[in-house]
Amino acid sequence: MDRIYPTRQWYKELVVYQIWPRSFCDGNADGIGDIKGVISKIDYIKQLGANAIWFSPLYKSPQKDYGYDISDYRDIAPEYGTLEEFKQLLALAHEKGLKIIMDLVVNHTSDQHQWFLESRKSKDNPYHDYYFWRAGKKGGKKPPNNWLSTFPGPAWQYDEHLNEYYLHLFAVEQPDLNMDNPRVREEVKNIMRFWLDMGVDGFREDVITFISKKEGLPNGFPLPAARGIEQYVNGPHIHEYLGEFRKEVLDRYTCMTVGEAPMMTPKVALRYIEEGENQQLNMMFHFQHMEADCLFISWIRRPFNLRKLKKVYDNWQTKLYGKAWNALYLENHDQPRIISRYGDECYRAESGKLLATMYLCQSGTPFIYQGQEIGMTNIRLPELDMYVDISTINTYKLFRKLHFKHETIMKIAKEASRDNARTPMQWSAGKNAGFTQADKAWFHINPNYTEVNVEAQLEDPDSLLNYYRKLLALRKENPVFVYGDFKMHYRRSKKLFVYERNFEGEKLLVICVFSDEPVRFRTTGGLKLAGAELLLSNYTVDNPGEDDFLTKPYETRVYLFR
Ligand code: GLC
Ligand code: CA
Repeated sequence: MDRIYPTRQWYKELVVYQIWPRSFCDGNADGIGDIKGVISKIDYIKQLGANAIWFSPLYKSPQKDYGYDISDYRDIAPEYGTLEEFKQLLALAHEKGLKIIMDLVVNHTSDQHQWFLESRKSKDNPYHDYYFWRAGKKGGKKPPNNWLSTFPGPAWQYDEHLNEYYLHLFAVEQPDLNMDNPRVREEVKNIMRFWLDMGVDGFREDVITFISKKEGLPNGFPLPAARGIEQYVNGPHIHEYLGEFRKEVLDRYTCMTVGEAPMMTPKVALRYIEEGENQQLNMMFHFQHMEADCLFISWIRRPFNLRKLKKVYDNWQTKLYGKAWNALYLENHDQPRIISRYGDECYRAESGKLLATMYLCQSGTPFIYQGQEIGMTNIRLPELDMYVDISTINTYKLFRKLHFKHETIMKIAKEASRDNARTPMQWSAGKNAGFTQADKAWFHINPNYTEVNVEAQLEDPDSLLNYYRKLLALRKENPVFVYGDFKMHYRRSKKLFVYERNFEGEKLLVICVFSDEPVRFRTTGGLKLAGAELLLSNYTVDNPGEDDFLTKPYETRVYLFR
């Protein structure tokens, strides 16, 4: 029987560059990244080989969670620019062949959103039922249930005026929307239409699997944080609501969606993304491959385990193949820098190239987070008051409550905090890393910018940046990178991650060595490297046809068999 290959789709051929606007590029010298700055870097993104940009929220927001607390879904935050400027950016991006993907954050709003301000005025206000307002228990003294926020702390906030509590699965300033209210779903659809009509090409949907809460909001298992999570992850009406968004809105446009989904497995993901009548989203951001050095969250640290990582990839690559589509990422604004986690800062460029190869040669749509392409690393801020991320501060408080020592928590924060990914982009070795002309950037700049920056890497043909460019160009030229299947070699190795991809008679062999010590590599399954073309490597290879060799630190090679 013929192999069933994936269907060809435009969104499968995207390479998405993620911008976290506050730290990307400051265009008006106030120390904060903005749209003007992005416009000045469009050509940079284009030359990297990306053909789409995903913007973390640009909307009006009190910035308690840096944009993920939205107070106006139809306007741009003044510190980032204006709606007019956004439209200019959109037109320019389209002219250059770049798609624009917006962040859709509808699990919650800001507590400064007009709907919420109305909702807390009175119990019979028409917006009251836009949120989860509930009476307390025990005569109102205790919250309605035992849930805790995912940004550690209580999930309910008492409001004296109404004598009721409201639900917030994230920060106090991020009240959850009641998606069971059909009027709220209408609002969401109208927000989508607003941006799609303007011309944007899709959405990254923030914690979208949380939007349907179990009826009656029952108590959750006694976890120290995110208690109650099993009562709202993949909740009872989730497929119905997402199906409604698809049929009534998304189907009427040429657009793509990628949903963010904590605790997702391939089996459950297929219920959302399997291609066909019931598909609700095009892709899913799961988290399983981000747990190879931790337990669930980056704050519960464990040594990096390559076998765990390989198992996750094998699972997602093979279970989705021909049925649904993977989203590939190693970094984003919520994850510490990948070289600092799965790579080796002593071999920054080598291990950065290895990691790039490892994930960009898999099947799926790749996402690259700003700075990843030049190998930015964790900043490791030493003092608590240097951190600005609300989840870092709340997690600190939780760990203190659990009797961890201050020093211990700070040691963890240096590796685990989201702030590691949010330092300003390092454009040059000049003042403020070329990020801003202001005296000071809004946030700490990693002191390694004198060495690690775009300007230096553009000039150096062997830089990580140029390696990304080569890899993305190869991906574009050879459909086997995008559409090939996935077969793992060396399944049990703790140091080698080796896989092949096959598509219409072409084969890729991808060799990744997760070790700074020499490992013996031999081809398996009768493969002869002499018959293959070495497409890419991170060292000069004297004898690429040799089937048996000792590897160099973090060596990677990609071979093509025709
Ligand atoms: C998502 C975002 C994260 C945000 C959270 C709440 O996980 O990626 O940055 O804090 O949702 O909106
Ligand atoms: Ca600015």
